Amino acid sequence: MNTQSTYMHWAKTRARVKYDLALSGILNLPFAELDATISDIDLNGDNSYGYDPLVDALATHADVPRDCVVTISGGTSMANHLAMAAAIEHGDEVLIEQPTYEPLLALAQYFGANVKRFARSAENNYRVDLDDLTSQVTSRTRLIVLTNLHNPSSGLIDEDALRRIGEIAQTARARVLVDEVYLEAMFEAAPRSSVHLGPQFIATSSLTKGYGLSGLRCGWILAEPELAQRMRLLHDIFGALAPHPAERLSVLAMSKLPKFIARAKSILETNRAVLNDFYDSREDLKIEHTRIGTTSFPELMRGKVNDLYTLLTEKYESAIVPGRFFESPQHFRIGMCAEPELFNEGVQRLAKALDEI
Ligand SMILES: Cc1ncc(COP(=O)(O)O)c(C=O)c1O
Repeated sequence: MNTQSTYMHWAKTRARVKYDLALSGILNLPFAELDATISDIDLNGDNSYGYDPLVDALATHADVPRDCVVTISGGTSMANHLAMAAAIEHGDEVLIEQPTYEPLLALAQYFGANVKRFARSAENNYRVDLDDLTSQVTSRTRLIVLTNLHNPSSGLIDEDALRRIGEIAQTARARVLVDEVYLEAMFEAAPRSSVHLGPQFIATSSLTKGYGLSGLRCGWILAEPELAQRMRLLHDIFGALAPHPAERLSVLAMSKLPKFIARAKSILETNRAVLNDFYDSREDLKIEHTRIGTTSFPELMRGKVNDLYTLLTEKYESAIVPGRFFESPQHFRIGMCAEPELFNEGVQRLAKALDEI
């Protein structure tokens, strides 16, 4: 049984660097920006199966009925855990995109799933290969797992493709789990959640990536009411209750999202322009301009990504995420989430390191 995530362990223990190009979530928001007062928090409240104001805020945010919302402390990570725990059983067949966010893979393995993969390849611009997916589905398939936006590439799955995936799942009486945490970083341009496309869809997300609010660990699952209720009951044997101060602060944060969106957009737009100029100047990287999302995933055409990573951390106080965590050892992931001056300097340093390897 797999009992660890190699990526998460690396992310938590990697060298801390000043010019960090590895961040996939918007720079953490300083607490003062919440404008919270002591009366905004409390230790205890009525939150048996979700704190009502938070459930209401999330139902409005996702435009779904409140009985479709399961709130979860522990971010999208715990949301994915609970969603999978409710949707599959030991030995079930689970189809997961390749490449993907490694903890999703580790999670399915931890649950004892029979994991199969379908392609979302660089050659196909990270679109879901629907033929490959169709050919992998069997009567034993219980779950299809996707990230949208895609981690690492930020590729968007459009609604037509999602509908097609929903049909493929339905023929096998399987469900589709879509980790939508990066859709939050599209702000008002984000398409609606996949949960609107049919009862076979389960969507997970959090306030982590788009708003700099990872510290709240405010996650959620959107699912059809019966499955959502099964998740709430299952959570009784996991975490039982959420930390109430975090729930109260999450409600406060959600009432101020427009302010945090303005901050996040300004960071992303500035850094995206710097990164796209940088890509134009490099012949040793294969990548298209990034237009959406917080990350991009260039291919290194000369040298080794591991050497690049070592040089960046040891000489240049900078970091990228090596593609080996995404089963793509010649790629690396850049996140556009750092403070813009530091991001700009990080990109200059990346250029020097690339020249050196
Ligand atoms: C696809 C994906 N899902 C979930 C997470 C974890 O999110 P959270 O901080 O909300 O647990 C990440 C973080 O990198 C991610 O990339």
